Amino acid sequence: MKSRTAVLSDPLLDRMLLSPDEIADKAEELGAAITRDYDGRDLVLLTVLRGGLIFLADLCRHIDLSLTMDFMAISSYAGGGAAVRITKDLDDAIENRHVLIIEDIIDTGLTLNYLMGVLRQRRPASIEVCTLLDKDARRIAELPIAYRGFRIPDRFVVGYGLDLGGRFRNLPFVATLKDEVMG
Ligand code: IMP
Repeated sequence: MKSRTAVLSDPLLDRMLLSPDEIADKAEELGAAITRDYDGRDLVLLTVLRGGLIFLADLCRHIDLSLTMDFMAISSYAGGGAAVRITKDLDDAIENRHVLIIEDIIDTGLTLNYLMGVLRQRRPASIEVCTLLDKDARRIAELPIAYRGFRIPDRFVVGYGLDLGGRFRNLPFVATLKDEVMG
C-alpha cells in the first residue's frame, strides 16, 4: 500500500489512535461473534449515514449469514436537544426482524437513544447495537451495547468514517485531533 503521508501530515491531526490492522482485526472478531449470535435469525444491519458506512462495509464481510442492510440519515434540530429529524428513513419494514444498528461512535448516546425509541415503535423482533468506538466517559443516555469495538478517551476523533466538517472520513485509521482544533 502507498504511504499516507498526505493525510497523516495534515496539520489538524494529532496522532493515530487505532491503526488499520487493529480496526480490521476487531471487525473480524465482532463479525464472528455476530455470526454466532444471529445464526438462524432474520437479521437486518441498519446504519446511520454517513459515519457508519465504512465500518458497516468492513464488518458485514465478516458476518457469515444471510442478511439485509438498510440505511437511515438524520440531522439534529437547530437549538440542540436529543430529538433528531429523520432525513432519510429505512426503505423496508423491520417488524418481526432482528435489527442490529451499526454505529461508528457513541458519545453521549442521546442520538442513538432517541433513534432506538423510534425504531422500537415499529415492533422489531429485537434491536441491538454494535459500535466501533465507545466514548463512554461522556455517556448521558444509558444504552445497552451488545458489541463494542474499542473504548476510547474523551477526545474528538476522525477517520474511518468519522468526520470534522465532512472531511477525514476516508482515512484508513482513527486519529485524534490537536487540542487547539477543538478549542
Ligand atoms: P451522541 O453524543 O452519542 O449522540 O453522538 C452523536 C454523533 O456525534 C455521533 O454519531 C457522531 O456522528 C458524532 N460524534 C461524536 N463524537 C465524535 C468524534 O469524536 N468524532 C466525530 N464525530 C463524533
